[in-house]
Parts: sequence; C-alpha cells; structure tokens
Amino acid sequence: MAYILVLYYSRHGATADMARLIARGVEEVPGMEARLRTVPPVSPVCEATADSIPPSGAPYVDLDDLRQCAGLALGSPTRFGNMAAPLKYFLETTSPLWLGGALAGKPAGVFTSTSSLHGGQETTLVSMMLPLLHHGMLLLGLPYSETDLLHTSTGGTPYGPSHLAGTASDLPLSDVERRLCQALGRRLARTADALARGTRS
Ligand SMILES: Cc1cc2nc3c(=O)[nH]c(=O)nc-3n(C[C@H](O)[C@H](O)[C@H](O)COP(=O)(O)O)c2cc1C
Repeated sequence: MAYILVLYYSRHGATADMARLIARGVEEVPGMEARLRTVPPVSPVCEATADSIPPSGAPYVDLDDLRQCAGLALGSPTRFGNMAAPLKYFLETTSPLWLGGALAGKPAGVFTSTSSLHGGQETTLVSMMLPLLHHGMLLLGLPYSETDLLHTSTGGTPYGPSHLAGTASDLPLSDVERRLCQALGRRLARTADALARGTRS
C-alpha cells in the first residue's frame, strides 16, 4: 500500500508526539498508510556507532523508506532557529536519491517544536523545506481554511504544524496543535493519492 513517510528527530518527545498525530491524519485517508521513522543522534566522537535498532520508538529510517514513499512529513525540534543536526546529517546522505530524482514531484510538509513561542518555529520549518525543494518535492503548508491558524495562542503556522513545549519541554500538545498535525497528515495523504490518480486534490 502507498505510504506517507513521517520522518522525525526528537530528543524529549514533543516532535515524536506530533509525528504520531500526523500519522493518524494520514491513516484517516483510505488507501494510504503512515510509516513512522526516526534518525539516530549524531556524536561528536567520530568513531561512535549506534545500535541499528533504537531502544524504543520508531525504527531508524533507511534510504529505501524515502525512495519509495508517496509523500513525506519531516519533523525536527528547533535548534537555534534551525533543524537539528541528526536530521540534517541524514538528509546529507540522500544524494543518490537527489541524483536520480527519486523524490521529485512528491508532496512534502514539515513540523517542529520549540521551547519558546517566538524561538524560531517558522525559520526551522523553512530550513527543512530547503533541501526538500532541492529534491524537487511539492511543499504543502496548512491553509487558513484550517481556522485554528487564526486563533492559536500556542503553535500552528501556515508553513506547517508547530508546538510550544515550554522552557521545561513539558507542555502537552494543545487541542489546536493536535488538530493541525492531523490536518497536515490528511492533506499529504489526499494530495499523494490525488497525484497518483492524476486528479486534483
Ligand atoms: C541545542 C538546542 C538548541 C535549541 N534552540 C532552540 C531555539 O532556537 N528556540 C527554541 O524555542 N527552543 C530551542 N530549543 C529547545 C527545543 O526546541 C525544544 O525543547 C523542543 O520542544 C524539543 O523537542 P523534542 O521534545 O522533540 O526533543 C533548543 C534546544 C537545544 C538542545
């Protein structure tokens, strides 16, 4: 069955919570599955190696997960207004897919979590869009017909779902944030399905 790859890095769990809600939105669309994958942390010690299976949560992604997806949701905690290094490190291994145009024409969306409300959600979302544009992906944000965007006092942007986790990284996803995560999942799945059928989403 066609699947949307929901690929994320998360250290404290907030971005992982968002990923699971996006996956739920994907699976609301008949005929479309979500495949949750993560990336290993990077180490300043070059010789360090990680186990091939993480101790908990989603499996690590491999290039075939990305090559064969019908669409992609890419998520990262905000790190100094940018995506986290482990995710960027993985993206820099995707040159074979870029050379072959494997992702060109597939829909993609991005999501992030921050500790502070104005701590760089939008810049992080855009930072994740840049490599996806190089891959030729079709970027989807969230339309204002998702009226939660007009009223949110936590996360949620037209560039993609976001979450305000607080300085202790302990705030749960608000109802608005949860709905917007699911909305992105549905939108990606419907668009991928429509593209596969050669129709408008
Ligand atoms: C090195 C580092 C840099 C960070 N930079 C920012 C930042 O620029 N803005 C912000 O609001 N939060 C920043 N944070 C906080 C994380 O974005 C926040 O805790 C996020 O919710 C963590 O997501 P996770 O639970 O998925 O790991 C930073 C955290 C770390 C460790």
